[in-house]
Amino acid sequence: MRHFTSVTQLGDLRDAFAEAARIKENPFADQHLGKNKTLLLVFFNNSLRTRLSTWKAATNLGMNVIVLDVNQGAWKLETERGVIMDGDKSEHILEAIPVMGSYCDIIGVRSFARFESREDDYGEVILNRFIQYSGKPVFSMEAATRHPLQTFADMITIEEYKKKSRPKVVMTWAPHPKALPQAVPNSFAEGMRLAGYDFVIANPEGYDLAPEFTEGVTVTHDQDEALRGADFVYAKNWASYSNYGKVLSRDKGWTVTEEKMALTDNAYFMHCLPVRRNMIVSDDVIEGPRSLVIPEAANRVVSAQTVIKRILESL
Ligand code: CP
Repeated sequence: MRHFTSVTQLGDLRDAFAEAARIKENPFADQHLGKNKTLLLVFFNNSLRTRLSTWKAATNLGMNVIVLDVNQGAWKLETERGVIMDGDKSEHILEAIPVMGSYCDIIGVRSFARFESREDDYGEVILNRFIQYSGKPVFSMEAATRHPLQTFADMITIEEYKKKSRPKVVMTWAPHPKALPQAVPNSFAEGMRLAGYDFVIANPEGYDLAPEFTEGVTVTHDQDEALRGADFVYAKNWASYSNYGKVLSRDKGWTVTEEKMALTDNAYFMHCLPVRRNMIVSDDVIEGPRSLVIPEAANRVVSAQTVIKRILESL
């Protein structure tokens, strides 16, 4: 594996899950792979889990880690070509990226959708510039359209907790005060299709995801109907794709509560975190015995370590 931007690049999923399980069992077995290798983590956006879990994964593999928060202490970057740089941006990303590449062996990049242009966001302009200009393997730590390390951790978690070979997994939209990107739900849909689970998406009208991510998936605007018989409930907010980046609803009738969970087949509750309590999910559900949010977050280390190990093996 050279670059990792989508769970579709994991190859045979049984192999990926088996490799993740081996890493979880013995996290320090591959320290030789990362000796004298440097991982650079570049954040254009905030992070708790991705920052810590990816750092920990790289350390488990024996790597050195450098973290750059682009908006805190670095020069403000221009990303467009052809711009006369007479404003507040001191450095162009087309110099900054190869410079960053010269200081490391692998680069992880977090760059969210900016909601200025659907075409730019869905073209993954920033992530692709790193792939094109860094000269180094690049993996996504959440880009504009996908969050593959999160999705792989989610898939590992479902594999660990499922009681049947093909569980019913429901991803439901839930309300949030701000416009959030579609990266997590897009990526989760991609992963669920790959895994072949019985996968249903529930969202209000106006919130259907991009068709490329939902082909062949049951999409309903009736949350209660979707939740019936569910084994896993994955809650997430996202802004509208068709009315790009807009918040069309804050309907608390979509919040995942005990009453909603009672419709399921004693389902586990999942969320990628951070989560807005009593907007996305009630306190009692997230704190309850069927909540997987903490094991899911813990599996972010395993997910990242599996991917970085594969990239190190390809160097
Ligand atoms: N789930 C996730 O990516 O969390 P952070 O934004 O805190 O990294």
